[in-house]
Amino acid sequence: MFSKETYIQRRSFLRQKIGSGLILIPGNQESPMNYPENTYHFRQDSTFLYFFGLDLSGMFGVIDVDSNHDLLYANDIEIEDIIWMGPQKSVAEQAFSVGVDITAPMDKLGQTIERAIKAGRKVHFLPPYRADNMIQLSSLLGIKTCKLKQYASMALIHAIVAMRSLKDAEEIAEIERACAIGYEMHVTAMKMAQPGITEQQIAGLIEGIALSKGAGTSFPTILTQNGETLHNHHHSFTLQSGRLMIVDAGAESNGHYASDFTRTIPVGGKFSPKQLDIYNIVLAANNKAFSLTKPGVTYQSVHLETARVIASGLKELGLMKGDVDEAVASGAHALFFPHGLGHMMGLDVHDMEDYGQIHVGYDDEIRPIDQFGTAYLRLGRRLQPGFVITNEPGIYFIPALIEKWEKEQINAGFINFAKVRDYIGFGGIRLEDDTLVTETGARLLGNRIPINPEEVEAVVASGLK
Ligand code: GLY
Ligand code: MN
Ligand code: MN
Repeated sequence: MFSKETYIQRRSFLRQKIGSGLILIPGNQESPMNYPENTYHFRQDSTFLYFFGLDLSGMFGVIDVDSNHDLLYANDIEIEDIIWMGPQKSVAEQAFSVGVDITAPMDKLGQTIERAIKAGRKVHFLPPYRADNMIQLSSLLGIKTCKLKQYASMALIHAIVAMRSLKDAEEIAEIERACAIGYEMHVTAMKMAQPGITEQQIAGLIEGIALSKGAGTSFPTILTQNGETLHNHHHSFTLQSGRLMIVDAGAESNGHYASDFTRTIPVGGKFSPKQLDIYNIVLAANNKAFSLTKPGVTYQSVHLETARVIASGLKELGLMKGDVDEAVASGAHALFFPHGLGHMMGLDVHDMEDYGQIHVGYDDEIRPIDQFGTAYLRLGRRLQPGFVITNEPGIYFIPALIEKWEKEQINAGFINFAKVRDYIGFGGIRLEDDTLVTETGARLLGNRIPINPEEVEAVVASGLK
C-alpha cells in the first residue's frame, strides 16, 4: 500500500475530472471455489486498489464529487470472526490509513445511492466483471445485470484510463519488483529445460517463486512445448529433446503490480539451425519494437512495423513471398503472427481490460484495424511518457490455421505453403519484454532476462544447482 496522500490525491484528481455526481468503486468479494468457505486466493479489484488501496474483501468505496467526501462502506467484524481470523483493524482505522474519514456499515450503502438517484444526481460506475458485483450493483441501482455494461459511465472510464495509463515513480518501482521476481522465475525455468523433466515440475517451481517473493503469478502460467497454442495452460507433457519450450509467465508484487515476460528455450540447451532461423527473426522483431517505442508514435504503427520485420525474415527463409509491405497490408503475416504486439501493464497484466479494451487501447484518432491478427492488438493509440507496455512478437506454426489458409488459398500470393508444411510440429516462439515509455524513448523494466541465443544456451547448460 502507498501512503494515504497518494490515495487522497488520486480521488481528488478524479473528482475534478468528473465534475459532479457520485462515483461507485466496489471492492471484490471472496470467491467460492467448491463451497462457500473454501475460496479462491483473494484478489482485490484493481480500481479499488488504485483509489482506496485496501486489500480486504467486502468493501465498497464511494466518491461523492459534489460534497467532496470519500466514503468507505464495510462491516466491522464480530467476535465470532475474530476467533477464526484473529484480531482485525476496525473499518474506521482501515479507512483512516487511506485518508477516508467517513465510514458506514454496508447496509447503509443502498440509502446513499437511493438518495442520490432521487435527487437526480448522476451515479457513475464502471462495467462490472464479477457475477457477485454485478448482482450487487444491479440491486443497488435497479438496473438489470445484462444492462449494466450499457449504463456504465463513459466519463468515468475515460477519466480513470487517463490516470492509470500514466504510471508514477512509486508504481514503476512496484512493477520493477514484479519484474525482478519474473526474472528469477524465467531463469529458473531455463535452467530446468532438460529432456525428461515435466512441464508441471517447472511450472510448479516457478509459480512457487512468485508466491514466495510476491503475491503469486500475475496470470495463469503458460509453459509448454506446444507453444503454437498461444494461451496453452496445460502442463501435462514431459519435455523432449529438440523441442522448444515457451514460458510466458509473470509475477504480481506484494503491492499487486504485474510483470509479464516470455522466453522460448530449446529443450536440452541447443537451438537447431532451423529453430535459430525463426528465433532470430522474433528477436529482431522484439528489438525493433523496443527501438520504435517512444512518445508520440502510435503503437499500431509499431505493431505493423514489427509485422514487416517478421514478414521480411520469413520471406528470406522462403516461407513468405512477394512484396513485404503488401503482404502486411493484406494481413498475410498473421498466419505466423496472429496476435497483437503488446498491451498496457500495471495493476492488471492486461491493464484496465475490464473497462473495455477499446477505451484503453484506442481513441478518436486511432481506431482498431478489423483484420485477422491485427484485430487482436489491444493497444493502438499514441504512446506517452509513463505508459508501461509489453512488446511480445511471436512466430507460430499452427497446423489447423495453416491447413485452413492453404485449403482456402488465403493470402496465397504471399505464402509458400509447400515450405510452410515443413514446419508443422515446430511449435512457436514468442519473446516478451516489459517496457516503460520515457520522455525521450523507452527503458526495459527489470534486468533483461537472457534473450540472445547464446545467452539462453549458456543458462540452460548451467543447470539448476
Ligand atoms: N500473458 C498473456 C500475455 O502475454 O498477454
Ligand atoms: Mn505474456
Ligand atoms: Mn503480455
